Amino acid sequence: MSGLIYLIAAVLFILAIRGLSSPRSARLGNGLGIAGMTLAVVTALALVPPQRLLLIVPALAIGGIIGVISGQKVKMTALPQMIAAFNGLGGLAAAFIAAGEIADGGTRYFGSAAGLLIGALAFSGSMIAFAKLQGLLPGRPFRFALQHPLNVLLGAAAFALLAAFSLWHTEWLFWALAVIALLLGFLLVLPVGGADMPIIISVLNSYSGWAAAGIGFTLGQTLLIITGTIVGASGAILAYVMTKAMNSSLLQIMTGGNTQNPSLAAAVVHQDRTARSGSPEDAAFIMENAEKIIIVPGYGMAAAHAQHALKEMADVLRQKYHTEVRFAIHPVAGRMPGHMNVLLAEANVPYDEIYEMDDINRDFGNVDVAYVIGANDITNPLAKTDPSSPIYGMPVLEVERAKTVFFVKRSLAAGYSGVDNPLFYNDNTIMLYGDAKQVTEAIVKDLEK
Ligand code: TAP
Repeated sequence: MSGLIYLIAAVLFILAIRGLSSPRSARLGNGLGIAGMTLAVVTALALVPPQRLLLIVPALAIGGIIGVISGQKVKMTALPQMIAAFNGLGGLAAAFIAAGEIADGGTRYFGSAAGLLIGALAFSGSMIAFAKLQGLLPGRPFRFALQHPLNVLLGAAAFALLAAFSLWHTEWLFWALAVIALLLGFLLVLPVGGADMPIIISVLNSYSGWAAAGIGFTLGQTLLIITGTIVGASGAILAYVMTKAMNSSLLQIMTGGNTQNPSLAAAVVHQDRTARSGSPEDAAFIMENAEKIIIVPGYGMAAAHAQHALKEMADVLRQKYHTEVRFAIHPVAGRMPGHMNVLLAEANVPYDEIYEMDDINRDFGNVDVAYVIGANDITNPLAKTDPSSPIYGMPVLEVERAKTVFFVKRSLAAGYSGVDNPLFYNDNTIMLYGDAKQVTEAIVKDLEK
């Protein structure tokens, strides 16, 4: 009977992941995930000998309370570090279960050692990620001489210990593996630069999933194997999608090589050309006369909390001027997966006004205005034309094909990649200098007059 319930829970988890693949079905996906998890936990508890519940129930209560409070309190911008911390705890739990199994005389040596290795690595790596994102450690990549050879050596030692323990079952090999895994987690995440953290967090998330799957083998728990594999695979796919969208690679990120030197790149300004700028009144005038507008939000919109002002602007344009207004979302706009989608959803922008890059890119040639707010790299055409550029190969939103392009930002400074954007100097570009929220609010005021 429990096998059947676990199977239903596993199916619910798979449907949950499917639901989470689109903002439209994300709520349903979340609900299905909660249902699956409730089913799994209640069934597991029903199978536990009653005397063990004395320990399990208080532990569940403490963890549950911490989870609920932190889930309610966490700010949108602090989500990455919360996910990092929770990933780390998942890895630690897997490592503890593996250690408990071995201490209890368990005989699934390979599964326990693999769970320990990946779990301990996910734990220490996630703690470094948390500390960097929380500002407890400097966010820049931390490098030292012979760092990569040392990592390769530690990786080889970990695999050797894993194999040796699986063959000979000597307990000190197991504990040595724990130490090496913890060290490896620290060292692998230290060289990662601050803004590459979302990718490394996905990788660590994937590790904690594989650790759980390994523990599932140790305990003979099919549900844990399935759930761990789902987490492991989805984390790995997400990391792959992000690296691809940023035209980077995991190896590049883990060696700290993706982080550019903004001061160097910012020096490549187009001194021979001037960027045209305008006022919010100019922008309002052009928008009043536009039939079609596409809004392109980026990191600066999030930094300025401009989403509500943006929604107001879209509403006024639609209601008062009958303008067609749509939002275009680049897959890596902002600093974390789904960053723009979540903020626009918070401001109640309807899903059917929000378009993924591939669905809207060809429409820029037919619109009067592209309103690029706090976005930069995701529009930079050098990604298509300059093979020497670090963003070369990254797909971009082709905003320059609109009749008029507004860039709302505080200066001509580069974005995350540190690459100067030649679009600022185009004839059809008007820079609207200022904070994204303030500029948009000023435009709304003018539109309402
Ligand atoms: P960016 O290229 O980083 O550009 C953001 C722009 O916002 C900056 O140029 C900045 O210009 C402006 N800005 C900052 N604060 C502002 C404010 N308060 N008001 C107005 N403007 C403000 O952002 P993007 O176009 O969204 O591209 C995202 C970048 O992050 C990509 O390079 C991507 O690869 C990278 N990245 C993304 C992710 C994910 S998963 N989304 C993860 C890691 C890295 P000023 O300083 O002149 O105002």
